[in-house]
Amino acid sequence: MTPVHAIEITDAKGTSGSCRKLGRATEYVHKIAFRVAINYIVGMLSIVTLISGRGSNFEAIVKTAQKEQWPVKFTGVIANHSKAKGLDFARLQGIPAFVVEHKEHATRESFDAALSLQIDALGADLVVLAGFMRILTPGFIRHFEGRLINIHPALLPAFPGLHTHERALEAGVQEHGASVHFVTEGVDEGPIICQASVPVLEGDDPDTLAARVLTAEHQIYPRAVKWFLDGRLRIEGNQVKLQPPESQFFKL
Ligand code: GRF
Repeated sequence: MTPVHAIEITDAKGTSGSCRKLGRATEYVHKIAFRVAINYIVGMLSIVTLISGRGSNFEAIVKTAQKEQWPVKFTGVIANHSKAKGLDFARLQGIPAFVVEHKEHATRESFDAALSLQIDALGADLVVLAGFMRILTPGFIRHFEGRLINIHPALLPAFPGLHTHERALEAGVQEHGASVHFVTEGVDEGPIICQASVPVLEGDDPDTLAARVLTAEHQIYPRAVKWFLDGRLRIEGNQVKLQPPESQFFKL
């Protein structure tokens, strides 16, 4: 079994905790890393996934974990509304499925507080955002700093935000793709764990391009999660170094 190392956060020069923010994050991340290490060793590492829709990325991660026999437990899937299709897959797999209905909360803060409580109750070592269509508050993001990851359907920093496929076609780019990144307070701005590119083909429309990108997403998101679980990710400034090094960019 691969030992889990601390998920270290350092500044760009590699100096751990050289400013207050990094210091706080490093201290916090070491606490996370300790728990991750213990849970990994006893085979009880907990992944909690947040979804809003069909949940195909969540499904890809669960299926890869089953195929490769990762020592993890998917302790819960949480959707922000009861119609999220991915909840059905979770139930079929015997993964506890929860709804924290955003419409029942008057403010983002109140919704995020309820969400946070649920995630903590599930003992999450890693929180995976998989098509979760809510903007998270800074307090929520700080609480899960270093163990909160997201997939975005574009080659960041290009096309942050919504409607990425339409915008990529409008911009006339030759390549498009997907990025997995740690979540920070800036929307789609956190350190990038890995990316995959796909070609934009003659005659593409937003749907055909989205389908090609989604296939790439299903390949890279499970890889990124596994790297996290294996303790191979080190955040340096706004970059993620993989140890031992291996390509973090896939041309598909
Ligand atoms: C994916 O394209 C993901 O990149 C984006 O939302 C979509 C979710 O798809 N954030 P799914 O629910 O995982 O099928």
